[in-house]
Amino acid sequence: MQQYAGKNVLITGGLGFIGSNLARRLVAAGARVTLVDSLIPEYGGNPFNVHDIEDRVEINVCDVRDRYAMEYLVRGRDLLFNLAGQTSHLDSMDRPETDLEINAAAQLSILESCRRVNPSIRLVFASTRQLYGRPEYLPVDEKHPVRPVDVNGINKLAGEYYHLLYSDLYGIRACALRLTNTYGPGMRVVDARQTFLGIWIRLLVEGKPFQVYGDGAQLRDFNHVDDCVDALMMAGMDERAVGRVFNLGSSEVVSLARLAELLIQAGGGGEAKLVPFPAARKAIDIGDYYGDYALIRGELGWEPRVGLAEGLARTVAYYRQHAARYWS
Ligand SMILES: NC(=O)c1ccc[n+]([C@@H]2O[C@H](COP(=O)([O-])OP(=O)(O)OC[C@H]3O[C@@H](n4cnc5c(N)ncnc54)[C@H](O)[C@@H]3O)[C@@H](O)[C@H]2O)c1
Repeated sequence: MQQYAGKNVLITGGLGFIGSNLARRLVAAGARVTLVDSLIPEYGGNPFNVHDIEDRVEINVCDVRDRYAMEYLVRGRDLLFNLAGQTSHLDSMDRPETDLEINAAAQLSILESCRRVNPSIRLVFASTRQLYGRPEYLPVDEKHPVRPVDVNGINKLAGEYYHLLYSDLYGIRACALRLTNTYGPGMRVVDARQTFLGIWIRLLVEGKPFQVYGDGAQLRDFNHVDDCVDALMMAGMDERAVGRVFNLGSSEVVSLARLAELLIQAGGGGEAKLVPFPAARKAIDIGDYYGDYALIRGELGWEPRVGLAEGLARTVAYYRQHAARYWS
């Protein structure tokens, strides 16, 4: 995207999965990119995610909860991709206040900093489909009621709404994308804390069976990270996105059993075992979900391009090559 050439871009959560893939694409497009990441152990940040571009980005290890640091960092930027987040739903139940501080309070103070020192900045916030809760109908469009089933969903909703409010009230040009399950190179695969697909990939690469919760019939949609990055970059440049919320999604809706089959095919072998849902997960599970992404397709022209079979194959190949950098 040529519009990014020469732009001064800040990415919070820039050493994480989606942030690092976005950074790579922005660097290729000629942007000047600064990454902010706290590298809190057990979260998704991993310096190896930017090993191939580390001499072409600026890296600032800092916590978005540090309002003074953030006020300094947002100065002079053209765009902020606001991706830093506590992303584990289970952790949000064990440590709800931490989730509140990062996903809601810090978002508000970032926006306040922008209002004070850089009100002309463009912001794109990485929101989540989790805030819809258990779908009342499928596919879920942006008009679907929000009814989060966990603390993370509530705090991400607050984070999203702060962005929209600051856009409406103060003219800070912000928008939010409600991401669905995103996968690809750079995702955290240490355990099932963030996403079950991460640990599936790790176990498959290690030649061990992986577990599918429930009867495997549950439906989900998945986006390869390249498609997610396309959407973020389109949203960051298109004036039609300002003040708006868009779902991402995929036309390839799959059951978890089918996903397991596709992953095994992508890996050239492997084994999946159906096991009962762990109680703590069941309590915050949303059941079947897939999103309607007609709005972003119609308004911004975004559409996912990477098919699931191909995307999974690329992801498995990446982790086969770089296992040692991601296993702990
Ligand atoms: N991956 C998905 O499937 C998915 C789905 C819906 C929404 N999202 C959202 O997209 C964003 C990026 O997710 P991801 O999958 O890349 O996760 P990730 O964990 O790989 O990236 C998040 C990054 O934020 C950093 N971070 C966390 N707390 C921080 C803090 N207090 N200060 C500074 N940095 C901090 C982490 O170190 C990590 O590098 C998140 O906001 C997440 O809620 C992701």
